[in-house]
Amino acid sequence: MLKVENINLYYGVIHALRDISLEVKQGEIVTLIGANGAGKTSTLRAISGLEPIKSGTVTFKGSELNKVPANKIVSLGLSHVPEGRRVFPQLSVLENLELGAYLRNDKAGIKQDMEMVFAKFPRLKERIKQQAGTLSGGEQQMLAIGRALMNRPEMLILDEPSMGLAPLVVKDIFDTIVEINKSGTTILLVEQNANMALAIAHRAYVLETGNIVKSGDAQVLLNDESIKSAYLGE
Ligand SMILES: Nc1ncnc2c1ncn2[C@@H]1O[C@H](COP(=O)(O)OP(=O)(O)O)[C@@H](O)[C@H]1O
Ligand SMILES: [Mg+2]
Repeated sequence: MLKVENINLYYGVIHALRDISLEVKQGEIVTLIGANGAGKTSTLRAISGLEPIKSGTVTFKGSELNKVPANKIVSLGLSHVPEGRRVFPQLSVLENLELGAYLRNDKAGIKQDMEMVFAKFPRLKERIKQQAGTLSGGEQQMLAIGRALMNRPEMLILDEPSMGLAPLVVKDIFDTIVEINKSGTTILLVEQNANMALAIAHRAYVLETGNIVKSGDAQVLLNDESIKSAYLGE
């Protein structure tokens, strides 16, 4: 579904991504793990067209994304939940969700998806009129994911959904990610929390200073000694 081939990304003279290649097949949860500064966010931003790449290709459902303007990529069925759960703080929960559906005009479908989001995140329904900026960190993450789902994406890209959240809240959100995947959405999950990410993923890639240094079955990596000592705190 998504194929990244040999992408290189520079920030001025900094060579942030070096020949990154990865693949996400339909139906999978694939995780990209790595330490702070490894290039995880840069990889996602390059995929979504938010950061220009120097070379390489990104192909989504057969379209070369580097030839599609960033604002059109969403309409291909790819939704990106950025790092730091950016919601519109002055707008209500409902208004944030409505904005997630701005490309659609099928009122009935939008209503149906809104109900689906509320079923997955009942806390959002209880707070439908509340200003997004006054939600807790976990609730804002739920809203950011909910808003992305309102585009009815075929693939969801998540950048560190666990960041800064309490373990119980993280568990809740990860359970929902699995649920979203089971209902048919392909997922690319970036995480510093390697333990949690490997536990729910099918496959994984390990990123170190802009290079993919390892990849494979998530369960295998979870038991890999070098991964354990570097990323799993064992
Ligand atoms: N806008 C930017 N300008 C310059 N350097 C950047 C920029 N964004 C990220 N970097 C650098 O690129 C590297 C990778 O960053 P990033 O992709 O954010 O890593 P991660 O998400 O894994 O923490 C880091 O060295 C970071 O300092
Ligand atoms: Mg990051």
